[in-house]
Amino acid sequence: MALFLLRPVAGKKLINPEYVDYAEELGDPLDYEQPLIGFPGHFAPNDLLFYQGDQFPERYKNGAFIAFHGSTIRAPYPQGGYFIGFVPFKEGKPSGPWEVFADGFAGVDTIVNTSDAAYRPMGLAMGPDGSLYISESEEGKIWRVMFKGAKETFGSEHLAAMEKHKMLSHIKDPDEINDNLDRGRAEAGEKLFVTHCGACHLADGRGDGTRYPSLHNSDWVNGDEQRLISILLKGLEGEITVNGQSFQGVMPAFNYLEDEQIAQILTYVRLNFDNDSPSIQAVDVRRQRRRESREAENL
Ligand code: HEC
Repeated sequence: MALFLLRPVAGKKLINPEYVDYAEELGDPLDYEQPLIGFPGHFAPNDLLFYQGDQFPERYKNGAFIAFHGSTIRAPYPQGGYFIGFVPFKEGKPSGPWEVFADGFAGVDTIVNTSDAAYRPMGLAMGPDGSLYISESEEGKIWRVMFKGAKETFGSEHLAAMEKHKMLSHIKDPDEINDNLDRGRAEAGEKLFVTHCGACHLADGRGDGTRYPSLHNSDWVNGDEQRLISILLKGLEGEITVNGQSFQGVMPAFNYLEDEQIAQILTYVRLNFDNDSPSIQAVDVRRQRRRESREAENL
């Protein structure tokens, strides 16, 4: 666990939030040596291999391949990482910016949920013939990467195509506003909430205190995501307890709303009314619908 985080955006070191209690003992992060290189947050470098083989072009020799397993908690921004990077070295030090060596493991670009990624690079190894082996953690798949071209003429024009990958949402530094996946969704969610939920829970989400429960600071809202989505898909009846108060009413189902509409309403509710929980995406609703129809078939 790193004591310090380098924030490439700010260009400075900060104390890792998990260690702020020790700030005094640790001293000023700036008094410590600068790291040799920094990577964007949550890329999760899981393996490192200094290439010693002869099969690849000269520029890869003694440079570092890095398996970025990829982030799990970058919401509301797209998840990042999920590729194999390379850092060129000269005389024991990085000699240039990090590069994208192999990408496409996730199978999609905007990775909203970790589970959207088909594969997640994990381990690196070199074979006796200089081939690079890449393993991944979802299916246990292993790739063998071999170089078949002309080593002497290999250079920047061959690298240009991979350089473009740095603009993809799972690799670039997210723009604070434009890359926020919740942008505009909470506003749309508010309108939908007033229309579909306001009659009972009221526009301020406080309900009437006797028949219709409050959504403020509610376990039902902040708790298990699947259970919450399910309340909208199936409705809810029978006795429930909300913040110590018991209710026995009937809430109708909203399964006729689209996945994205349900996701927007729940995102709005989870970010307002004294709640503070991660957003809900349309894929989460789609998955829950599938889960419930499978359950219904098995009954
Ligand atoms: C017709 C009235 C009605 C409407 C419309 C309605 N609800 Fe409810 N809701 C209820 C009742 C009644 C309960 C409590 C059910 C019980 O006692 O089992 C409830 C419970 C809940 C709960 C769990 C308890 C809590 O307070 O956290 C959530 C979350 C919730 N509703 C969200 C919504 C959302 C979001 C909408 C709009 C899509 C909505 N409801 C629309 C009547 C309604």
